[in-house]
Amino acid sequence: MTTPKKLYIKTYGCQMNVYDSERMAEALEGYEQTQTPDDADMILLNTCHIREKAAEKIYSELGRYRVLKDANPDLKIGVAGCVAQAEGEEIIRRQPMVDLVVGPQSYHRLPELEAKAQRGEKALDTDFPEEDKFEHLKARPKASRGPTAFLTVQEGCDKFCAFCVVPYTRGAEVSRPVDRILTEARDLVERGVREITLLGQNVNAYHGASESGEQSLAQLIWALDKVDGLERIRFTTSHPNDMTDELIEAHGTCSKLMPYLHLPVQSGSDRILKRMNRSHTRDSYLRLIERIREARPDILLSGDFIVGFPEESDADFADTLDLIREVNYGQAYSFKYSPRPGTPAAERGEVEAAVADARLQELQALLTQQQKAVQDSMVGREVDVLFEKPGRDPGQMVGKSGYLHAVHVDNCTAARGDIRRVKIVQSVRNSLGGVLV
Ligand code: 5AD
Ligand code: SF4
Repeated sequence: MTTPKKLYIKTYGCQMNVYDSERMAEALEGYEQTQTPDDADMILLNTCHIREKAAEKIYSELGRYRVLKDANPDLKIGVAGCVAQAEGEEIIRRQPMVDLVVGPQSYHRLPELEAKAQRGEKALDTDFPEEDKFEHLKARPKASRGPTAFLTVQEGCDKFCAFCVVPYTRGAEVSRPVDRILTEARDLVERGVREITLLGQNVNAYHGASESGEQSLAQLIWALDKVDGLERIRFTTSHPNDMTDELIEAHGTCSKLMPYLHLPVQSGSDRILKRMNRSHTRDSYLRLIERIREARPDILLSGDFIVGFPEESDADFADTLDLIREVNYGQAYSFKYSPRPGTPAAERGEVEAAVADARLQELQALLTQQQKAVQDSMVGREVDVLFEKPGRDPGQMVGKSGYLHAVHVDNCTAARGDIRRVKIVQSVRNSLGGVLV
């Protein structure tokens, strides 16, 4: 038997990239993963292009590998993900030590690309091919898995928000067929997975083919609900306009669906929402939140916010703060607007950087305060925790509640993969402390 070569993958950006990195590692047979670039035979950067300086960061990261390549001329270096898609050949032009560039829709072609790189040729593929990459990315046999996993069900986006590169880097919206997803889910469960997070850039726009016609995300969730051994279902990221009645209802009636929803709004100003091409209003969003809370009163809401979008005034920003106060978020991600080449908003005048910075600070202070209050409100409550791994202290285990709060338990008799009732006794900075009930 030949000793396997070593593959180092560094993943940037969203959860879909985490999923893709796993699939790429599986596709590259003959390699085993290593946690450091130092002893790697192949380094793969799985990149993100969503915000500023992504490409620059990649180039400087690549620069750091120069010494490794000098020491080991057989080392192959690849760039995957959305920067690869956006920059293409330019990457090899600017950084000639890169051997391989592969866009998100071409990962199933990695083995051929790798072989080409081994022959000393530059390997580049940023097509949007017709064939289903997931069908060609069959998992290698049966490595056991941790208790939680991502599963991509939908990819790409047709919404074209004015600030966003996703429709260009990930392409048009495509849903995977229901039976493939169910097969993959059962396979994950056999390998120890208890919780699956369904992924898609626009996951609630899911409309996958099945024998009985097209199925929605809610229908897919109900099909997954019947998978024995699967205990928890989550999905992310959703668009407000695709939150259908049946999906809202599922939050009230499907016990495996966790009480957590990531529902980005981006801005609380109708004027800015319109300029963002978001196709929902402040009011329609707030009414939607109301209906979701009617179905599932304890649901923890999470959002994305952009400050400093072109032409955002003080009054627009105040509207965003106001919306945040009205919703009360338990989790949030906020960003300063970053012009992305090729998107419509990149052509417009920018808000002064100092103003945008100050707004971001103010917004984050409010969101942090809300998140802390929501986390603190868990103290005294009993929640179910899915234990994932040992904690920092001996005898301690850590896991997640249904609300996605990290929970640690000292002297814990629960094993990895167990779901146990826990009474929350303290709220510390980044997690909750509890005792088994
Ligand atoms: N500038 C800043 N934030 C952005 N996002 C997407 N594009 C941009 C951009 N050009 C944010 C949005 C989105 C999240 C994934 O990233 O809030 O929901
Ligand atoms: Fe980007 Fe999300 Fe808007 Fe699609 S819906 S364009 S992924 S921000």
